[in-house]
Amino acid sequence: MKLIICENYEEASAEAAKVMLEIIKNKPNANLGLATGSTPVKMYELMVEDHEKNGTSYKDIKSYNLDEYYGLEHTHPQSYYYFMQKHLFSKVDIKPENVHVPKGSGDIQASCDEYNKLLAENVIDIQLLGIGSNGHIGFNEPGTSFDAVTHVVDLKQSTIEDNARLFFDGKIEDVPKQAISMGISNIMKAKSVLLLACGKGKADAVKKMIEGPVTEELPASILQQHQDVTVILDKEAASLLTK
Ligand code: PGA
Repeated sequence: MKLIICENYEEASAEAAKVMLEIIKNKPNANLGLATGSTPVKMYELMVEDHEKNGTSYKDIKSYNLDEYYGLEHTHPQSYYYFMQKHLFSKVDIKPENVHVPKGSGDIQASCDEYNKLLAENVIDIQLLGIGSNGHIGFNEPGTSFDAVTHVVDLKQSTIEDNARLFFDGKIEDVPKQAISMGISNIMKAKSVLLLACGKGKADAVKKMIEGPVTEELPASILQQHQDVTVILDKEAASLLTK
């Protein structure tokens, strides 16, 4: 694992944008694995800024998002599809047909099967990840098998509470209780992984991911076994690391 510790969220976001842009510039038809959440917002903002200033093009880029709430149409303002449109897709020249987010409505098993087929046919060049305060990656909650492919997830209470606070005005009852998520085995097939984590709420999960045992109880710990992982942290997220 390559570890980069930054002074603050702004610097960490700039480092992460640099890693993404290097891939996009070196391989204009790259497959990007993308993530939602509060953490990557600034990074996407910097990618948009770069697109506007430097003309970095996404016209041959394909994107594959990690997850989506189950029960929210893509037009719902809290859906991850909507998030991606708002923060990146509508602001760069990516083609609508090259954008992939799991479908969180309708026949959910068919949606999982379709997404797995897509991922089997397209190798992801770089997979962006956040980490949950409980160590989840994507919506792979503690206890998820490392062998899982795209599947339906029952969200843990801690995840529902985190997301209610950040995105649903604190209204726990509005947060969907299920989601569809790439599995750990899909994530581990990416050629490279970029994990971005900021804030002291992530420090414990980050410590366990890097210094703890590889265990399904802390899904992100599997990344210790990936060949090409870059972890970018701010000081607070790095504050419990000892080695
Ligand atoms: P966050 O979510 O960026 O909103 O903290 C990260 C995650 O749960 O994976």
